[in-house]
Amino acid sequence: ELCRAFDGKNVVVTAGATREKIDDVRFISNYSSGKMGFALAASAAKLGAKVTLITGKTALQTPQGVQRIDVESAREMLVAAEAFFTACDMFIAAAAVADYRPASPHEGKIKKSENVFEIQLVKNPDILQLFGTQKSSKQVAIGFALEAQNPMENAKEKLAKKNLDLIVLNSASEPGAGFEVDTNVVTLIGKDGTLEKLPLMSKLEVAKVILKKSSFFFG
Ligand code: C5P
Repeated sequence: ELCRAFDGKNVVVTAGATREKIDDVRFISNYSSGKMGFALAASAAKLGAKVTLITGKTALQTPQGVQRIDVESAREMLVAAEAFFTACDMFIAAAAVADYRPASPHEGKIKKSENVFEIQLVKNPDILQLFGTQKSSKQVAIGFALEAQNPMENAKEKLAKKNLDLIVLNSASEPGAGFEVDTNVVTLIGKDGTLEKLPLMSKLEVAKVILKKSSFFFG
């Protein structure tokens, strides 16, 4: 039964957007609200898991019984997450991590001068891929994908490349899906090739279905 499956399990959830500093007063980020990750953390805690929620800046309240760690950048998120890589039973990466960060953030505030201003960006570490490729076979890795083109194909490719048990494909276009809203439209793709397209649901309901499906991978 679902309740039993999560009892006492260590679950780590990443959530929200990271912020990548340009200078001391500016950053690069995205529109992720953190709602999907917070819903997953809340649901897992309700099921009896020991939940650590590693989150970027968000306006959301910490769910009941969840240990929350606030971070700013992708690299800070990685440092926080790595501390749980060996001990966690399940790692759920719901964060919208910035793919790139400014190569060398300026100290203080950049002064306005030229008409064209260039910022060099460098790639951030892929937190989920690092976990997935070093996890033991008993640990479960779950990721999300938001794809503008060839969604199914790209999501399956990510599932394989990051060594995931399950990937949650977010609809990029359907009404009621994606950033900031309280609902989502997703397709669950298991490493066993199983596909489950869910109708429009609240993020809390989506979280429950994800956890139920994920619990099968505990073995
Ligand atoms: O490759 P892509 O960014 O589309 O993969 C999305 C998934 O990987 C999400 O689960 C996201 O949380 C995770 N991710 C991560 N670290 C990154 C980029 C993505 O954990 N630097």
